[in-house]
Amino acid sequence: MGSMMIDGRRVEFTDEPNVLAVIRKAGIDIPTLCYHSELSIYGACRLCTVENEWGKTFASCSEKPKDGMVIYTNTPRLIKYRKQIIELLLASHCRDCTTCIKSGECHLQDLAHRLGVHDVRFENTKEPHPIDDSSPAIVRDPNKCILCGDCVRMCDNVQGVNAIDFAYRGTEAIVSPAFNKPIAQTDCVNCGQCRVVCPTGAISIKTNIDVVWDALADKDTIVIAQIAPAVRVA
Ligand code: FES
Repeated sequence: MGSMMIDGRRVEFTDEPNVLAVIRKAGIDIPTLCYHSELSIYGACRLCTVENEWGKTFASCSEKPKDGMVIYTNTPRLIKYRKQIIELLLASHCRDCTTCIKSGECHLQDLAHRLGVHDVRFENTKEPHPIDDSSPAIVRDPNKCILCGDCVRMCDNVQGVNAIDFAYRGTEAIVSPAFNKPIAQTDCVNCGQCRVVCPTGAISIKTNIDVVWDALADKDTIVIAQIAPAVRVA
């Protein structure tokens, strides 16, 4: 409980879990890609970065609010950082937006528009990965993954399934089932919650019910999709 100065305005806080929640309570729009109030904090995308009165920057989603804090949320420097982050994410992202199933509801695409990022100056140095179409319920396209880890935390921490995790390091890092197996050969229960939190088209739901039924009927044991209650997405 206390108060902090945000962009020159005093804002009271009580039990908000992080600075980001206080910023949003104040009605200030701040972009995020890896934060969901129902998932553990990962602090990967850095889009929610703010700066204090001494110019020190930090991710607001992973900082507890403290009484007397002074922060700025949309300085020219922060806006420049956010544009660069989006540009770098786009650089290593398959850019078939016009044909992507997520076009129009992709958070990355939306932020690129909002921040005015129209050109990408960097080469994509990532090796292309095969699309995993093995599941009866979802399609995984690692070429559209931005490594926010939302699907991993949903699958492992919330659903307790552990079908996917991070693999490899550096520019080779991907989210994948263990040993790069097809998702159909894991304990995936087809709940689709990874898709709920995925901000891009890296995970999409199969919409052709005949295809889904055929795929399920091919299995020795038909797996009934275990639909968990949809999470509230921040
Ligand atoms: Fe805070 Fe991604 S939303 S680091």
